[in-house]
Amino acid sequence: MENVAEFVPVNEPLLDGNERKYLNQCIDTGWISSEGPFVREFEERFAVRVRRKYGVAVSNGSAALDAAVVALGLGNGDEVIMPAFTIISCAAAVVRAGATPVLVDSDPVTWNMDVGQIESRITPRTKAIMVVHIYGLPVDMDDVLALADKYGFKVIEDAAEAHGQTYWGKPCGSFGDVSTFSFYPNKHVTTGEGGMIVTDDPQIAEKCRGLRNLCFNSRRRFVHEALGWNLRLTNLQAALGLAQLERLDELLARKRRMGRYYTELLFDISCLQLPQPDCKCATNIYWVFGVVLDDSVPFEADEAMRRLAGSSIGTRPFFWPMHEQPVFQRLGLFGNESHPVAERLARRGFYLPSGVALSNEQMERVVNQVRKLFV
Ligand SMILES: Cc1ncc(COP(=O)(O)O)c(C=O)c1O
Repeated sequence: MENVAEFVPVNEPLLDGNERKYLNQCIDTGWISSEGPFVREFEERFAVRVRRKYGVAVSNGSAALDAAVVALGLGNGDEVIMPAFTIISCAAAVVRAGATPVLVDSDPVTWNMDVGQIESRITPRTKAIMVVHIYGLPVDMDDVLALADKYGFKVIEDAAEAHGQTYWGKPCGSFGDVSTFSFYPNKHVTTGEGGMIVTDDPQIAEKCRGLRNLCFNSRRRFVHEALGWNLRLTNLQAALGLAQLERLDELLARKRRMGRYYTELLFDISCLQLPQPDCKCATNIYWVFGVVLDDSVPFEADEAMRRLAGSSIGTRPFFWPMHEQPVFQRLGLFGNESHPVAERLARRGFYLPSGVALSNEQMERVVNQVRKLFV
């Protein structure tokens, strides 16, 4: 049996830039709370990077979605069109606000929402589209924005996984009314836990700042006209974020190199669908390196992941579709809807170790073990 040291983790961040230096500055100055100067600096630099006017740092990417949905005024009776294949944070934010998620299936090649299905899901109650860039390639934003324009919908862009990605050269995070990011350690920029809302609309930015900070009244503290949350990011987290942001291009280049190397190593395994290296509007940033088992493979992703874990290879399953979530079924959402592509991805897809710290040697070991699944 291989020893524990040889385990290839599914993710490992790289923290060898200015992270330690900036964290030490927090400790030396005593600025560790959300009032510290790195928070504002991180917000400003991040907003510039994604070509937005305002950045509002929050405690995680799910919280960013919660605040964004409320800031857009979505609530009872409103419908929000979104992908079936995504993380629960997207639908949860809509449901918590009292609105209803309406699902579209995925594109089998890019794994992003099938934009061609959006128009058929529109009803008189549709108020917004929530776009989610999944696993590395951007959604076709031109089509989404044209529909939003035609019908007067708001657009929320969940760019949690898309740091540094672009769509026809324009940054992900710069589209629609409001965009959100996550800085969980598996993201290209990490703060441990963290998130960011970006927008060009000063009112949305102000609303999000209020929601982030318990909706404190600016005239009299501890008097509240509305209910917010404590979603504040600390100066310590922002210090990490700033150092990571400084090296985003380097981290992106690493991930792209990794994606290309995995593709080269796995290319001849014909029963595995690999991530699309590019689409007409972008090159894959390989947020994660996902693989999908072909129908000819007699077992599901669960079994593949179990066997790889036995060979000291860490993996993660793909998302589980929103219409198959027990919590939403109990709430009476989605009835007997079927989204076959999302259902198949959930059962046949998983991702390989994908962290920025992964070495070529580790990738070769991963692929050797993947190969053994099919002999
Ligand atoms: C598409 C997407 N949206 C939102 C989130 C939630 O972010 P967080 O884990 O920071 O709450 C994630 C997390 O991975 C995500 O992948």
